[in-house]
Amino acid sequence: MKLSVSTKQRDYDIWLESGALARAGEFFNLKRQVMIVTDDGVPAEYCRLLASQCEKPFIHRFAQGEASKNLSTWSAILTAMLAADFTRRDCVVAVGGGVAGDMAGFAAACYMRGIEFYIVPTTLLAQVDASIGGKTAIDFENVKNIVGAFYQPSAVLIDPDTLATLDERQLRAGLAEAAKMALTGDAELFSLIENSTDLTQDLPEIIRRSLLFKKAVVEQDTEETGLRRVLNFGHSLGHAIESAEEGKLLHGECVAMGLLPMCSEEVLARVIPVWKRYELDTEIPQSPLRLLPYLMHDKKRLDSRIIEVYCDHVGSFRFEEVTPAAILKDLENYHEKQLWQ
Ligand SMILES: NC(=O)c1ccc[n+]([C@@H]2O[C@H](COP(=O)([O-])OP(=O)(O)OC[C@H]3O[C@@H](n4cnc5c(N)ncnc54)[C@H](O)[C@@H]3O)[C@@H](O)[C@H]2O)c1
Repeated sequence: MKLSVSTKQRDYDIWLESGALARAGEFFNLKRQVMIVTDDGVPAEYCRLLASQCEKPFIHRFAQGEASKNLSTWSAILTAMLAADFTRRDCVVAVGGGVAGDMAGFAAACYMRGIEFYIVPTTLLAQVDASIGGKTAIDFENVKNIVGAFYQPSAVLIDPDTLATLDERQLRAGLAEAAKMALTGDAELFSLIENSTDLTQDLPEIIRRSLLFKKAVVEQDTEETGLRRVLNFGHSLGHAIESAEEGKLLHGECVAMGLLPMCSEEVLARVIPVWKRYELDTEIPQSPLRLLPYLMHDKKRLDSRIIEVYCDHVGSFRFEEVTPAAILKDLENYHEKQLWQ
């Protein structure tokens, strides 16, 4: 399946096809120097398969995990490009999850003020979310995604077969991001996740529907000045939880928790069983006080206010401009509801 994305910066295609990685050369221009950026948790065979289709491949591998999403990893990628005399005619390909995508994308955005880059997302989270929309960022001074750029890829190649090597926990974290989009904009997708009896078989459709939703949003608002904020559903608290947990929890797991206090009781009645079924936490371990300093750093903060996303009915959302204190109140209310259950 091909999905064409049209943004202010660039138009590009997303290809979703089982086995497509073996034919990457048909989708990307690899007849040049290619810096493949990946991490050491991504099975090496994916990069080898891609490299075998490049005229002059280089593989730059960094240590897996969110802790690598920093200036020194970014700088090492640029050093490798410079050492190999990369020019504006060459390109970067991210192979991996959202961390590899963010690192490769931000390096590509900065090298010579921007060279072409492609994405081969290999986690579910990256396939449904991180690989589309052109956001690239690194963490800085313990603040998530605080330094970065909007920089669109030239193409994205999603091969669902790569998910076969992904561990269950990562898969569930990705599913949470798909469910996040379903809750705010696609009730049918939420039903699919809710009623799936064979997740492996349903994944291509879950990926396709999530991409369609995200495409519609980013095409209308590439630089997150309005509608795109809907994608931040669950992220204010989610990022705060992620920072407070100092890397012990996955991004998708934190978003899964962070969106719960923003749901009405009607929505929670459907979300909680789904979270339990996919072993996502329904209890938020931190107290509001512990999360407050992290919320204050939230880059969506507008003076002292945050545009928060609420879900009153499955498949719809509303924005509300609130203070960090109001978000913590939502959390407190959620804790109380949980206590009474
Ligand atoms: N740019 C965006 O729009 C955007 C959107 C959402 C999230 N993100 C970012 O994405 C990051 C999270 O991404 P993630 O959840 O993909 O994490 P990740 O990139 O750390 O990948 C998770 C783990 O899976 C391993 N892995 C990747 N593919 C694999 C495969 N096919 N088989 C086996 N192991 C594999 C990786 O080595 C890593 O250890 C966060 O930093 C988040 O901020 C960015």
